[in-house]
Amino acid sequence: MKGIILAGGAGSRLYPLTLVTSKQLQSVYDKPMVYYPLTTLIEAGIKELCLISTPHDLPRYKQLLGDGSRLGLTINYREQAKPAGIAQAFLIAESFIGSDSVALILGDNIFYGGDAFGEAFTEFKSGATIFGYHVQDPERYGVVEFDVNGQAISIEEKPKQPKSHYVVPGLYIYDNEVLNIVKNQKPSARGELEITDVNITYLKRGTLRVSRLTRGFAWLDAGTSSSLHLASAYVQTIEKRAGIKIGCPEEAAFRAGFLNLEQFTELTALMPNCEYREYLSLIIAEANRLNNEK
Ligand code: DAU
Repeated sequence: MKGIILAGGAGSRLYPLTLVTSKQLQSVYDKPMVYYPLTTLIEAGIKELCLISTPHDLPRYKQLLGDGSRLGLTINYREQAKPAGIAQAFLIAESFIGSDSVALILGDNIFYGGDAFGEAFTEFKSGATIFGYHVQDPERYGVVEFDVNGQAISIEEKPKQPKSHYVVPGLYIYDNEVLNIVKNQKPSARGELEITDVNITYLKRGTLRVSRLTRGFAWLDAGTSSSLHLASAYVQTIEKRAGIKIGCPEEAAFRAGFLNLEQFTELTALMPNCEYREYLSLIIAEANRLNNEK
């Protein structure tokens, strides 16, 4: 399966923070926002990635992530000239996707809690898998309605009168058919190729699964100054309490087996002395201790 990180858009809701720095490069507590969705895809076992952003911001992402090889990944880059809709990502990345299935994650979506996505990825064969998350303000999102058996029966984008409190977060898994679906799709009234319309097509075909995320799971929004601040505070609270890091791609790449202990150690040695390096050094020390006990 291939992975796409969509990190474009104008970021106008974060103005003036976004005057010179893309939204998805803003800090969420101790690391750039894009580290979080990147980590989610690595944890899902995806090694071949494509990052899409604006022509203006793309060079910054290349500077930050390079070709991905230091994390045991390949990262391709594609430009989105104008924000013409989330689903346009599939057309932009068509040659990258090839004949594979694909997971798309929005660059400002932060997920945390257990192995909520593991099964969705390992069991994915065909059709589409999306997720449902309970929120207080569903009218801001794509809203899913379920029947008594827990089957999704409708999805609406930002409805004035939402039919439920379950909304669709920015992580979508599709088979290769998504390319045909988007090619035949018309832009919405706001002129965008809507991801919700893609999901509606799969729903009508009977090949959409909506997996409900449980209560203990956190899906954070970092799209406004205030939600960005709250996301930072959340990450800080968990990290300080548990002594772990959320959204740490180096750690995820090591745990996923994309980097062996030697490569992970070399990568960490290149970092300046800082708290981030200290954290990774603790993981290395623990892995060495376990190896020595074998
Ligand atoms: O966050 C989940 C929600 O994302 C879903 O529940 C909705 O169904 C979906 O439409 C989307 O809603 P938003 O109103 O949050 O979408 P927004 O236009 O803000 O775009 C989400 C992110 O994707 C944002 O960080 C910018 C990026 N983006 C968006 C568009 C439309 C792009 O990079 N290119 C684009 O063309």
